[in-house]
Amino acid sequence: MENWALPIAMLLTSTIAAGFDGGSSVAESSIPTTLDGPFTPVSVNLEDEGFRGNAVDLPETDPRVVRRVKGFEPDQISVSLSVSADAVWISWVSGDFQMADRIQPLNPASVASTVRYGRLRNYLTFKATGHSLIYNQIYPFAGMRNYSSGIIHHVLLTGLEPDTRYFYRCGDPSIPAMSTTRAFKTMPVSGPKSYPKRIAVVGDLGLTYNTTSTVNHMKENKPDLILLLGDVTYANLYLTNGTGSDCYSCSFPNTPIHETYQPRWDYWARFMEPTISEIPIMVVEGNHEKEEQANGRTFEAYSSRFAFPGEESGSHSTFYYSFKAGGIHFIMLGAYVSYNKSEFSEIAVDRQGGGDQYKWLQRDLAAVDRTVTPWLIATWHAPWYSTYKSHYREVECMRVEMEELLYSNGVDIVLTGHVSSSRLRIVEMHV
Ligand SMILES: [Fe+2]
Repeated sequence: MENWALPIAMLLTSTIAAGFDGGSSVAESSIPTTLDGPFTPVSVNLEDEGFRGNAVDLPETDPRVVRRVKGFEPDQISVSLSVSADAVWISWVSGDFQMADRIQPLNPASVASTVRYGRLRNYLTFKATGHSLIYNQIYPFAGMRNYSSGIIHHVLLTGLEPDTRYFYRCGDPSIPAMSTTRAFKTMPVSGPKSYPKRIAVVGDLGLTYNTTSTVNHMKENKPDLILLLGDVTYANLYLTNGTGSDCYSCSFPNTPIHETYQPRWDYWARFMEPTISEIPIMVVEGNHEKEEQANGRTFEAYSSRFAFPGEESGSHSTFYYSFKAGGIHFIMLGAYVSYNKSEFSEIAVDRQGGGDQYKWLQRDLAAVDRTVTPWLIATWHAPWYSTYKSHYREVECMRVEMEELLYSNGVDIVLTGHVSSSRLRIVEMHV
């Protein structure tokens, strides 16, 4: 990618590597590539500067996370992109969650998934319908409280004009239980001179008072798109009785299954709704989304709550997919499912489509037309090259499997999260 500028601004929050030792084996006259490594990890002590240790969670009583709707009125509304500018996903939750030893799951078919939309606020002439589901978080141990979600709806709107503002209401008009009117803007059409003006990139977001300042900062900068690179709610830092911990990596080592407090997901989505019901958000999984439960099930909340263009991008997976935003082709990769070159892997061959990521990535990269999307940006959760001591070379196996494929296909930028030890900064990219 040499001839095209990328005239967008990216707001990078959370994870910026904290230091770098260039490596004694590399000649000073040349810039070392990551292939010259591994280098000695170098960490800057951020404790003294107050970057860590103050991440206090929003309590469930905070007015920004309490349930504000009645009955089956839409709650936790969000917008996500499909593969191209002519389609978006609208998602929401209807009905409240249940949290008890014994639960009676809601019937997803009992509430319709309808979106009415149009280009004029009071003239929503188009209608789309979608699908709905619930998920459960079940612990087969006495004393743990199980969880059943509200009804989660996903509706794909198609035939949209690029770079166009649409108004919409979602819900079930027959109850009636429709949302207030919201608006989103589609991505510009894909082409070498067509880009979203500003993209916010954030990892390890959580639901703390720091989160509120990060999200406020994002909104003030009016991004056209938000990328959330894993570690969404940190619900797994809670016991099922709602008791939290401020330990980032060592909470509850003695519990038979690593517990979670799933209502944190609902709180997070309510807090985010004013932002992501109008600005599209694209999410990829982090380690905190694993959330193991009975029968070896994992990633249920992550895979159920967000809409992903898995079918549209041919991955058939919630863990990895691709999409276009103007002249950028984004590849969202899964660091916690199989990434092996071999066709079959024991890791995560499951309902979410793990086990075929490498083959899919080969196909997806081969189909990229750089005259249409000159920029190729890859994201995943855990960095391959961080020099910070925490999480150092944690996903080295993924790097070994996939690095050459990304290099040989000329990926321009890689964005990751996970190493939550950095200051927030804005990077203006006029490459
Ligand atoms: Fe992480």
